[in-house]
Amino acid sequence: MKIAIYPGSFDPVTLGHLDIIERASTLFDKLIVVVMHNAAKSPMFTVEERMDFLRCTTSHLNNVEVDGFSGLLANYAAQRGACTIVKGLRAMSDFEYEFQMALTNRKLNPDVETVFLTTSAKYMYLSSSMVKDIAQHGGKVADFVPAQIEEEIFQRMRKDG
Ligand code: PNS
Repeated sequence: MKIAIYPGSFDPVTLGHLDIIERASTLFDKLIVVVMHNAAKSPMFTVEERMDFLRCTTSHLNNVEVDGFSGLLANYAAQRGACTIVKGLRAMSDFEYEFQMALTNRKLNPDVETVFLTTSAKYMYLSSSMVKDIAQHGGKVADFVPAQIEEEIFQRMRKDG
């Protein structure tokens, strides 16, 4: 069974992430979308909230599992018996960081290959940070996040003031 993992902060999941998940899910027997900690970021949503968002937006995909993990991605891949790490690439600006992570992960776990899926052109500009910025300023995020979570994000932003 070919198992792939798609790791990220997903704070929150965007239509760009969902596009990668849908496409990657057709390439592997099982795709595990795993919410992880990025040391360079302070997330707005808890791991549980981010996992819930992912679960309700991927419920139509039978071979997709959502998980959370705190630790090294290379270790998580080994634990789950994954052969591949899937990453989405938007632009050249993503490349250097992703290249560095791919090489580091290969050093830590030579049994796992990182593959990059290029984003669909319509989502090239899209990021979770942009979604949060728009929502925090009272803007509409319907064009950027899956419909199932738009209202929850809006309510959450209202609550946080
Ligand atoms: O969506 P992001 O924030 O770009 O995802 C980055 C993430 C969470 C995949 C990355 O920070 C990560 O792999 N964190 C886990 C810790 C780890 O394994 N670090 C070494 C990899 S270079």
